[in-house]
Amino acid sequence: MKKSNSDEKDSKIYDSRENWPPYTYRDYPAIKPETYDAFMEFLSTENKSDRVLELQPWISLCASRCTFCYYPTSAFNPDIIDPYLNALKKELEMYAETNYIKTSKFDEIVLGGGTPSVLSADQMIDLISFCEKRFNTTEEYFIKVTCSSKTLETKKLEKLAEYGVYQVDMGAQTFDDKLRKQLCLPDSAQNVERTVKAARKLGMCVCIDLMYNIPGQTMDSWIDTLKKAVELDAEIDCYSLNVYPDTVLGKQLKSGTMPPQGDSEYEKQMYLKAYELLTYSGYKAIGHDRFSRVEWHFKENCLNGWPWAGILTTGFGCIMGYLQKFSYTNVEDVNEYIDIINSGKLPINRLSESTPEDMMRRTMTRLYLRLPVDKIEFFEKFGKYPEDVFSRELENLKDKNLIEIDEKEIRITKLGDLWKGNIAWEFAPKSTK
Ligand SMILES: C[S@@+](CC[C@H](N)C(=O)[O-])C[C@H]1O[C@@H](n2cnc3c(N)ncnc32)[C@H](O)[C@@H]1O
Ligand code: SF4
Repeated sequence: MKKSNSDEKDSKIYDSRENWPPYTYRDYPAIKPETYDAFMEFLSTENKSDRVLELQPWISLCASRCTFCYYPTSAFNPDIIDPYLNALKKELEMYAETNYIKTSKFDEIVLGGGTPSVLSADQMIDLISFCEKRFNTTEEYFIKVTCSSKTLETKKLEKLAEYGVYQVDMGAQTFDDKLRKQLCLPDSAQNVERTVKAARKLGMCVCIDLMYNIPGQTMDSWIDTLKKAVELDAEIDCYSLNVYPDTVLGKQLKSGTMPPQGDSEYEKQMYLKAYELLTYSGYKAIGHDRFSRVEWHFKENCLNGWPWAGILTTGFGCIMGYLQKFSYTNVEDVNEYIDIINSGKLPINRLSESTPEDMMRRTMTRLYLRLPVDKIEFFEKFGKYPEDVFSRELENLKDKNLIEIDEKEIRITKLGDLWKGNIAWEFAPKSTK
């Protein structure tokens, strides 16, 4: 195959790929009384943003722990379920009572986590129906449930499909059984395949998470996994495996009981392989890590309104919540969560309030989400054009052929897709890296 010029030059642009943008939940400061009050004040205002929101009640519980996972989840304990679901409804109710939420509309209800599928189908449906009754939805809205193939028997799937659940999101990670065992994934590749097929047969959309650059993962194993996902007709989230020191995998790698991950060049080649194989199979890269073949999903992509819309995440251990300039996470311990809810307060532990300057920088991270930055909208929000604020950064990225700029908008190029995390970091304050 002949290589294009941009393919030849791409490896020289940055030393390694950034997989996360700035302004993720890890950067949020611990909540202070004054930021809590400012958030409550914000919630008492009307939502004039003209953007729809997404509602995410989280069930941060898992039947077992995967060695790589950085999510703050707890082990499933049947005794905690009823008290937890009661507390979760109280938190949802607290938000539903605010003026901001009363004047907002939601186009998605997503059970997040963790693995909501540790609940029974009736418990999940009861929670979804509570949300439908207490929150304003758009005329057409979508219900999605995060699941693990291990806890998603066909009977459960049937009940969810019958209720109208549109999509199940599942962490498949890899279809290579040797790697599955190594990562402590609880079931076989065959069971994941069976579950995806059952959901597709019931007419549900299935989105599976796949990870690349797993220790010991060969390019052939990665290709086989990608081909299986295509064969199963799934939507795909492709994540580069990030190792966190506190995880079991982090400790295994440190002690040398696990072979190291591939280097940054190998990681990049794995991403390029996925991009090539999936686009060849009719997929389009959308959002932060998704490949989709469903055309209307390109527009529906829940992050389209970033950073002006919102994702109302709730429940212990939830991360990634945001409502315009406020971003937050909740406490991670279920008992602490229940106690705070019973005291009548929101169970937030980290809360960030962006300044107008931060909001300008966060608007530029739309490029990381493969979304254009609308220059007129930027001007309407800030009284300046992106070029007035970020002239040096934009010129530099344009010179490297990573972005395109016209009268209307700024977008990433095909080459920029590979470096979109690095592009986002160009707009961060220099002191944050
Ligand atoms: C909260 S999980 C949701 C899926 C569900 N809990 C399951 O595992 O079946 C979201 C996804 O984050 C990804 N993830 C978790 N830890 C990761 C890490 N250290 N690096 C990259 N991706 C990770 C995994 O692909 C995982 O499926
Ligand atoms: S990857 Fe999913 S199932 Fe595994 S520990 Fe994380 S949240 Fe739980």
